[in-house]
Amino acid sequence: MANYFDEPSRTFSEYLLIPGYTDENCIPQNVSLKTPLTKFKRGDEPAISLNIPLVSAIMQSVSNDTLAIALAKEGGISFIYGSQSIEDEANMVRRVKSYKAGFVVSDSNLTPESTLADVLELVERKGHNTIAVTDDGSACGKLLGIVTSRDYRISRMSLDLKVKDFMTPRERLVTAPKDTTLAEANDIIWDHKLNTLPIVDDDDNLMYLIFRKDYDAHKAHPNELLDSSKRYIVGAGINTLDYEKRVPALVEAGADVLCIDSSEGYTVWQKRTLDFIRAKYGDKVKVGIGGGSICITRETKGIGRGQATAVIEVAKARDEYFEKTGIYIPICSDGGIVHDYHMTLALAMGADFLMLGRYFARFDESPGNKLNLNGNYVKEYWGEGSNRARNWQRYDLGGKRGLSFEEGVDSYVPYAGSLKDNVQRSLHKVKSTMCNCGAITLEQLHKCAKMTLVSATSIVEGGAHDVIQKNTSHLPI
Ligand code: XMP
Repeated sequence: MANYFDEPSRTFSEYLLIPGYTDENCIPQNVSLKTPLTKFKRGDEPAISLNIPLVSAIMQSVSNDTLAIALAKEGGISFIYGSQSIEDEANMVRRVKSYKAGFVVSDSNLTPESTLADVLELVERKGHNTIAVTDDGSACGKLLGIVTSRDYRISRMSLDLKVKDFMTPRERLVTAPKDTTLAEANDIIWDHKLNTLPIVDDDDNLMYLIFRKDYDAHKAHPNELLDSSKRYIVGAGINTLDYEKRVPALVEAGADVLCIDSSEGYTVWQKRTLDFIRAKYGDKVKVGIGGGSICITRETKGIGRGQATAVIEVAKARDEYFEKTGIYIPICSDGGIVHDYHMTLALAMGADFLMLGRYFARFDESPGNKLNLNGNYVKEYWGEGSNRARNWQRYDLGGKRGLSFEEGVDSYVPYAGSLKDNVQRSLHKVKSTMCNCGAITLEQLHKCAKMTLVSATSIVEGGAHDVIQKNTSHLPI
């Protein structure tokens, strides 16, 4: 006979937090969401901490280099998806690590022989007013001049006029060498009253442009997550099959942390992969099976656990382990976050940070296409276990190489705008709820949170009820 658990497994929506005492210090401005990513000993600092408790799912439709940069700017981390070739994944990691905030590779370039008509066409097409003039018209050719809207008057000049006859030529440009930091660049921009500062290499080839207008944007990311060389921190997904090749390639590309991405953690293949990398890397535990929005594992195989119960039980075991050994192992709750308040519940239950797929797939920066569906903008979001992703390495049980049935769906999610706006709004709610509980750190929340199960009837009471709503077009997030 099978073993039976006494309690049903439960999901986030079945719980509510109960307010704790809020003193005058307990206000959202004082809340820190800093949280450990890797294991550490009592009294030590973890090797990597996050400034916000959010990481993006290891999925083709979620975590590419663009989203990774946007999320690191806000203080979280992306795990670049592993269901692509080792080389492509390593290149995505490399692009995040070599991204320099404020250093822009020029995307509007012409040669001195181009004409004013070419300039106008490019401005119209790209929407930028600053054009680099290089010997071969590329973004990295020898810098010969710059054209901005201050260099021409359409009403007085012929459209045939050559760029070389009205550009600001190289000898009148202020430039900076390749090892200039952003802070130094901004000082040069300020001292010389420039709008644009080209960065050139030793042979005077153009490398980047730095714009005065980006200065404030850079300052707008006080939480950005940087390594000791001021590069963005990024993670990468690996599987339990080709880890002997993939792990060294990702480490070489600069990945700060790796995550074994598998549909099931309790297997001999996970153990082998862990044994291979454990000596070198820290641990965290990712909790969740079958709770993801695109996930049909529970339906197709009848296996899984309610996400809330899973987090609560793993957190209990983690806390006992910490008591006994003094070693703290951060927990990541993966999948099933639907509303913003689920984030606070998962954190209160003992998760240190959360992995989200659907949430991030809705933003501008995710890789999925943005489409208009019956008048509403949506983005594509597909599961790693769907035929579209063909990520059989995630589901493989050491048997044949291929997906024999689907464990995920291909879907749309409502388009929601920029990552920055959404993350800031969601986390503001988290901070506000933490204050209701009397906590200004996640550690305090773990200790002081009081929770109750809710009855089906009280869930109805929790939404707007017994009124005729004027606008029901939005879903609570
Ligand atoms: P959310 O709810 O944030 O969940 O969209 C994202 C997590 O779901 C997992 N995942 C899948 N699980 N079939 C599954 O059973 C799939 O096709 C699939 N794709 C992703 C994954 O853990 C992710 O972080």
